[in-house]
Parts: sequence; C-alpha cells; structure tokens
Amino acid sequence: MASGMMSEFSYAQDHASNIKRSDFPDDFIFGVGSSAYQIEGGWRAHGKGLSICDSFSLRYPGLSLFYKTGGANGCRSVENYSRMKEDVQLLKKMGVNSYRFSISWSRILPGGKVSMGKSLEGIDHYNKLIDELLANGIEPFVTLFHWDTPNALEEEYMGFLSSKIVDDFVNYADICFWEFGDRVKNWVTLNEPYTFAYGGYVQGIYAPGRGGKNQDGDPQVEPYIVAYNLLNSHAAAYRLYQENYKSFQKGKVGITLNCNYFQPYRGSSHQQDIQAVDHAYDFKFGWFMEPLTKGNWPENMQRLAIIPTSDYPNGRVLPKFSIDQQKTLIASYDFLGINYYYASFAQYQDPSDEIPLGYSTDGHFKKSGSPDKNDPGKTYEEARDDTYRLNYIKHHLEAIKLARRNKVNVMGYFIWSFMDSFEWSFGYNIRFGMIYVDYMNDLQRYPKRSAVWFRKFLSENKKVSVKSNVTQVNDASNKTEQEIENEPEVL
Ligand code: FCB
Repeated sequence: MASGMMSEFSYAQDHASNIKRSDFPDDFIFGVGSSAYQIEGGWRAHGKGLSICDSFSLRYPGLSLFYKTGGANGCRSVENYSRMKEDVQLLKKMGVNSYRFSISWSRILPGGKVSMGKSLEGIDHYNKLIDELLANGIEPFVTLFHWDTPNALEEEYMGFLSSKIVDDFVNYADICFWEFGDRVKNWVTLNEPYTFAYGGYVQGIYAPGRGGKNQDGDPQVEPYIVAYNLLNSHAAAYRLYQENYKSFQKGKVGITLNCNYFQPYRGSSHQQDIQAVDHAYDFKFGWFMEPLTKGNWPENMQRLAIIPTSDYPNGRVLPKFSIDQQKTLIASYDFLGINYYYASFAQYQDPSDEIPLGYSTDGHFKKSGSPDKNDPGKTYEEARDDTYRLNYIKHHLEAIKLARRNKVNVMGYFIWSFMDSFEWSFGYNIRFGMIYVDYMNDLQRYPKRSAVWFRKFLSENKKVSVKSNVTQVNDASNKTEQEIENEPEVL
C-alpha cells in the first residue's frame, strides 16, 4: 500500500506540468478561498460586533509563532469589506467558477445572539456580495464559522467551552439559511475545527488564546470540550437545514476538516512511529471524522485522553455524546471539505517528555511540517513570481486527477488563498495569496504568476460553467448513479 502510494505520488510529480482543464469534468469546481477575519477589515463598520479574533489580536499585539507580527491585526486587513466589488472583478478575471468565503457571525449578530438584534447592514453586505458573485458567474461556497466567535458570547459563557453555544450557533445558521439560502447552495458549517480547538485551547496562538504558556485555560480538558460543542453545533445546524430548508432551497451542507499525510519519522519499520502515525490521524482527523461517521471519539482517543495526569490523578473524562446527539451527528454532511497543506512525520513521544501535559501529549506523537513560506521584504517582482506555489498547485491538481481516476468522489478544489491577507499568528509576514497585495501602497492588488497561470488553465477547453446546484460527475466510476448520489462528496 505504502509503496503503491509512493509510486502514485511520483506519477503525479512527473505529469504535473501537463495538467489540463479538460482532465476534469466541465462542472468541476475550481475556486479560491478566504475567510472573513483574514480579509474583510471593517472591524467596526456599520455596527459590526467584536469577535474573539478582534479582541485576541488587540490583546496580544506582539504574538508570533515564527515571525514577529509587528502588532498586526485584521482591523483593516486588505479592506475586502469596502472593496468587495473590485475583488469580485478580480475573481472573475481569474476565471474561477466558485468562491469560498466566510460570514462574520458578529457582523450579522453583533451581540452573538438573536435576542441582541440582527444587523441589517451586515446582512445587506453579504446579500450584495452573493448577488455580485452570481451576476459574474461565480458560485458562492459559504462558511458559517471560520473561528470568529462573537466576543459577546465569549464574555457571557466562554464561547465554545459552553454547550450554550449550540443554540446560538443554530440561530445564527438559521438566519443565514433564511436570508441567503435562496442563492447560496453550498454551506460549510465549520472551517477546520481541529485548528480552532488546538490553536485556541492548546497552543493559545489563536483566539481565544487559552492553554498556552502563561495563559488561562486547561489543555488537558478544554480542547475536548470545545471539540464536543463544535461537533454538536455543526450537527444541529445540518439537521436544521435538512428539516426546514432542504426541500425548497435544495442546497448542500458540509463541513471542512483538515488533515495531512503522516509518515513514520524513523522509517516504515519502526513500530512505535508506525503507531504514532495512527495516533496522529486519530487526534487530528479522526477527532472530528469519527463522531461524524460513528457517533463517537476514535478508540485511541477514548483510551489515551482519560489517562491520569498529576493534575488529574483520578483520570479525566471525555465529553460523552448522548444517543440523541449520536443520531444527530452520524452522517451529518452532504459533502466533506478537506484542507491540506503539507506532509508531516509522526514520531512516538513519551508522555513524560518535558512538554506541558494535555492534548499535545495525549496522542503520544509529535509532528513537524513546512508551511508555504513567502519571505517578507521581497520586491514586487520577486513576490509576484510565486513559482513555488504554481508547482504546488499543479502537483495537487495532478494528484486530484489521480484520486478521481481511483474513484475518489472529488468534486472541486479551492486554492488557499484568493489574495494575501492577515495570516493569524504570522500577521502580514507570510503571503498565501494568488493575488499580491501591496501593503505599502493603498493595498493595491496585482496577480501573481500563479493567478495568471490559473486563468490560462481555466480558460482552456471550457464548455459549460458550473451548475448552480453542483452534482458530482465521476466519469471513471463504475458505480451506479444511486451509489454516487448516496456518497458524501469531497471538496
Ligand atoms: C488554514 C486556515 C486558513 C489559513 C490557511 C493558511 O488552516 O483555515 O484560515 O490560515 O490555513
């Protein structure tokens, strides 16, 4: 199996430069992604309420994981909120048929909950964005939660640490389905719950900044509670759509999880590291996928996350899903988004290693990897020449083609990211965009090499644009239409 996969990877490497639009069906989704806090700015515009991303970045202005962010925050960011029309034109020029963005919860509900009133201006903004996209032939893929819990709910009951969040999230989702669902046919409830729970409640490098050194929080129990409330919120919103909206809006609701490929650090015959790979998948992907498929946490997690620690000599308790919650959770997605960026090694880690106990040690593995780095301080010409990104995209497209040939039901690919923007703990020192933003000159936008290539790639052999209710075509499959219909799709 492993060597089979390796030869498939080399195949993808060798053939990447020949990848063509016509290698994919006409209705294959080709898009780029963004998220509200990272791109919008307008943090107080038209009565928007604060989110925990606002309060976190203002509370920890110097926070950095790898670089100094220089006090960066997303208050202004790249001003997508006020330059929305200009940015939709950029998307159109890139030739994408879809755009993935997130709605800022506190722009719709400034106080987080319905009883505090909704913002008509906030709703109006997203109505305009959706209309503008559709008028330009671009299908909206809308994420409801990309980590920006309304600050009011964080202050009232500690946000996702409380099960009270489930009702407030469902009410927020309800407003979005009602207001936008006549035109939005693809919903993503949560973006990367793993990153939110791990970054926000174990490392403390993302909002709300708990669990890290010298921070409040408890990385031994909080991430598990947060994961539990995230999953229940997702499932409840999914069921609400099924019951109240699906029959007439005819859209799809999914979730986006992240995962990466893990390889045993000390080689494929090192038993402890092979086991570490297993644990790594369980603690990163299985943490959310198993509740969504089996209604419970992965077995390894059930066993390891309750082991006594010096703070909990009698052991810990993982939140338990009731029978009703399990029923609500199982198969609560019409498609699955998978975010992936890099491959990692997994190495067995003795829980007695000198790192803080908790989620990080429960899995008995550690990992490493390399994000897509862009050096700060590059000249305009250098920054636009993103050959690294271009090759990365080509290889991934080739890998998707291969996966489809192997009957994986892949329906689309969103590249992260649409344009350079605020990158959480890196601030503006790392650039993920296909569009270069000149931070020194009025945030002017310029296409990078990858954007120009993507435009050329997408214009080749284009026959029909994406259908409004996207259905999967899998030409290599021998499955019956019914079998394909019943399968969740992968983005
Ligand atoms: C993903 C996040 C996204 C961005 C990229 C680089 O994990 O969902 O917001 O930060 O990484």
